[in-house]
Amino acid sequence: MLLRHDESRLRATAIDPAFRRDVLNGLTARPRSIPARWFYDREGSELFEAITALPEYYVTRTERALLESAVGEVAALVGPGRAIVEFGSGSSAKTTILLAATRPAAYVPIDISRDFLLESAAKLGEKFAGLPIYPVDRDFTEALRLPEALDGAPRLGFFPGSTIGNFLVPDAVDLLRGMATVLGDDSMLLIGLDRIKDTSVLLPAYDDAAGVTAAFNLNLLHRVNRELGGVIPVEAFRHRVRWNDAEARIEMHLEAIRDVQFEVEGRPFALCAGETIHTENSIKYGPRDASVLLRAGGWTPIANWSDALEHFSLILARKSA
Ligand code: TRP
Repeated sequence: MLLRHDESRLRATAIDPAFRRDVLNGLTARPRSIPARWFYDREGSELFEAITALPEYYVTRTERALLESAVGEVAALVGPGRAIVEFGSGSSAKTTILLAATRPAAYVPIDISRDFLLESAAKLGEKFAGLPIYPVDRDFTEALRLPEALDGAPRLGFFPGSTIGNFLVPDAVDLLRGMATVLGDDSMLLIGLDRIKDTSVLLPAYDDAAGVTAAFNLNLLHRVNRELGGVIPVEAFRHRVRWNDAEARIEMHLEAIRDVQFEVEGRPFALCAGETIHTENSIKYGPRDASVLLRAGGWTPIANWSDALEHFSLILARKSA
C-alpha cells in the first residue's frame, strides 16, 4: 500500500500522451499487450544494463566478443570518416569497440531514455576526445532527421543487441527501410541478430535465476503506477516466458497470479488468474532468414560473422540500389 501511494506521489508532472494511449489501448485489446518501448524509463534502462551482465544472458557477451574479433574486417570494409548512427544506444557499451577501430567522423547515439543517453554520451566524450558526439533523445522508430553538422559524411548505422528481433516482421521491414532513408545514399548498416537455438539456452536467458528479467518486466507495471496514477497491485503478477516455435520467438508476458482488478486513469480493468499481458517478443533469425529480412528492408548483406556455437550473427550490409 505504502509503495503504491509513494509511486503516485512520484508521478511525473506531464503525462506522456503516447504512453497513456498505448497502455489504455493495450489493456483493452485481446490479447492484452503493451509495446516493449515503454520498458525503458530510467529504472528500466538500468535493469536492462543488469540483464546484459547476467550469466544466462549470452547475447551481450557473445556479440561483444564477436565484434572484437570482427572489427578489423569491419573497419576495412566501411573505411574511415563515417558518421556512426546507433539506434537505441543505451549505455553505448559495445560502441567503444567500433569507435576505436573505425576512425569515424562523428557519433550519433539515439535513445528514448534521455538522462541515460546524455550520461552515456558524456562518458564516451571523455574517452574519445575530439570525436563530435550528437545525442538524439528520440524513439528511433520515428522519422528522424540527423544533425545538420553531419552533412557530407557517409553513414554507418549500428543496430546491435538483436533489437531488430523485438519488432514483428512487417514492423522490422518498415524500420530497416526507415533507417535506409535516414542514413541516405552510400550508407552501411552493422546489425546484430540472435539466432534460433535450443530452448535450454534460450529460455534461461529471459528468465534468470536472480530474477533481474522478472524485475525488468514488472517495472512496466510500476511505471504505469508512477506515471499514469495506476493502482495496479504489482505483486498479483508474475514474469512468464515462453518459446513460440511457429513464430521463432521468445515471448514475455505478465501473468495474473489471481483474479485481479485495478484502475488506470480512472478506467477499470480486470484479469482472471492465468490471463496475461504480452510485453515483449524476441524473434530469432537463422542466417537465411536474416538475409531475406535485410533485403526486404532495403539492405544488401556483404559480410557476416558468427561465434563458434552459432548463437549470434553480426551482419554488415550496404543500402540497396
Ligand atoms: N533485444 C534484447 C533481446 O531481445 C532485449 C531484451 C533482452 C529484453 N532481455 C529482455 C527485452 C528482457 C525485454 C525483456 O534479447
